[in-house]
Parts: sequence; C-alpha cells; structure tokens
Amino acid sequence: MTSAYPKSVVILGALSGVARYIADEFARRGFSLILAERDMAELELIAADMRVRHSIACYCLEFDALRYDDHAQFVRQCAETLGETPGGVVLCFGFMADQTQAQRDFSTARRTLEVNFIGAVSILEHFAAAFEERGNGFIAGLSSVAGDRGRKANYIYGAAKGGLSIYLQGLRNRLYASGVQVTTVKPGFMDTPMTYGMELPKPLVAAPDIAGRAIVRAILKGKNVIYVLFFWRYIMWIIKSIPEWQFKKMSI
Ligand SMILES: NC(=O)c1ccc[n+]([C@@H]2O[C@H](COP(=O)([O-])OP(=O)(O)OC[C@H]3O[C@@H](n4cnc5c(N)ncnc54)[C@H](OP(=O)(O)O)[C@@H]3O)[C@@H](O)[C@H]2O)c1
Repeated sequence: MTSAYPKSVVILGALSGVARYIADEFARRGFSLILAERDMAELELIAADMRVRHSIACYCLEFDALRYDDHAQFVRQCAETLGETPGGVVLCFGFMADQTQAQRDFSTARRTLEVNFIGAVSILEHFAAAFEERGNGFIAGLSSVAGDRGRKANYIYGAAKGGLSIYLQGLRNRLYASGVQVTTVKPGFMDTPMTYGMELPKPLVAAPDIAGRAIVRAILKGKNVIYVLFFWRYIMWIIKSIPEWQFKKMSI
C-alpha cells in the first residue's frame, strides 16, 4: 500500500460508539481529523478533547448520510478545510432497528437500507473519485457479519450490510490499480449504544477501544477484510457452511 497520501482522515458518523476510539487512534499517530456527523455541539466536545490530548488539527463538519444531494459539496468542503484532499475516510455511521419493527413498518426498513447502504454508496463514490484522481488514499467501511448470511433475527439490517460488503469489495477491485486501499471491517459484536440492552455472549463482544485500535491498525496495514475479533472469521465460516435446507430450520 502506498503511504504517500496526506496524514489526514475524515470520520463519517464520528459520534458512533466506536468512531470516537478510531479517531483517537488516528490522532495518536499524528493524523489531522475531520469529524463529521449531524450533532455539531456534541462533535465540538470530542474535537476539543482530541486537540488538547493529541495536539493535532481537528475540524467538525455537519454530515447527514441521507442528504445525498449534499455529498459532493461535503467532499469539496473536506478538501477546503484541510487545504488538500484528505488522506482517507472511515465510514462509521449505521442504523439498526428492531427486526420485527422493520418487518411491520416499511419506513423503518427503508431507513435501515438507506443509512447503511444507499447513504454509504452515495458518499463513498465521491471520495473514491477524489482519491482515484490523486492516485492514493484509503477508504474503510464498517460493515457487519450480519451481511455474511441472512438470518431471521436481522435480515433487513443484514441485507443492507451485505450490500455494503459487496459494494466495498467491488470498490476495492476498481481502485486497486489507482493505489487506493479499501478495507471492509466486520466488527462482530461491539459494546456500543447500538447493542445497548441486548443480551450478547460476553466473550464474543469487543470493547470499543479494542475495536478502534484493531480497525486503525488494519487500515494502516492495508488489510482488505477484517473481523475485529479474529474468531468471528471462523464463526462465520461455520455459519456460512450450513446447508440452506438445514439453516432455514434453525434459530441462530
Ligand atoms: N455495535 C456493534 O455490535 C456493531 C456490529 C457490527 C457492525 N456495526 C457497525 O459499526 C458502525 C458503528 O456502530 P456503533 O456500534 O458505533 O453504533 P452507534 O454508536 O449506534 O453509532 C452509529 C452512528 O451512526 C450515526 N448515524 C445514524 N444515521 C445517520 C445519518 N443519517 N447521518 C449521519 N450519521 C448517522 C448515529 O448518529 P445518531 O446517534 O445521531 O443517530 C450514530 O452516531 C455502524 O455502521 C454499525 O452498523 C456495529
């Protein structure tokens, strides 16, 4: 992987439970940051903390994954803010609703598909074009093991994340020749607001600081696909190997 890109990164969905730790890991390595989300007041608090603790430049920009028409301008604004196209982008935003609610209420299903998939495609295509033109950079997207196989417990969110994983795979294939690295992150379970109140087997859950460190290391090493806790790769290998005639009878 080329390392000639500028030492700066845009964190999309910077208020997410794990994004704060991803930002922290980049800041510790001297990267300038653009934190992007909808709640500017909350972002400013995190940015102030980053500046004090790491002596880095940290900017806040308003970003909504669903405002597709603003995405081209957002990418231009990132370049204007930094004085150059950023080195990379990490997509952390996401939305997971209760599966039953998404089955009954199309607006919930639609939001799940739009935030996790369409919003991601919309914004990443603009960054991809900018990095491709420059000839280096990195793109990382937080997808999910839920996208590896459809399950009754969360197939609408899983479908959106599965779409995102395939999208990132194709983007990686497209951008390889331009020297732009694309990393797909499959976190498994993480202890963040998204999983708050869910009963999850503790050994399978990653603390967000551990996840943040693993994600940034993988990005900077130029990894293609990572499972944050290594054993998820084997868990998902087993789950994917179950024949469909048997899988449809199971509740996992
Ligand atoms: N936690 C897990 O176990 C887990 C597992 C697999 C994958 N992931 C994925 O990892 C990523 C980070 O998740 P997390 O656990 O840190 O979740 P989180 O704390 O719930 O963060 C999700 C973030 O996305 C933001 N967001 C939602 N809709 C948005 C929009 N339209 N525009 C901009 N931002 C928007 C949310 O902002 P608001 O709070 O303002 O809505 C929130 O800050 C997500 O993509 C998630 O799907 C998480």
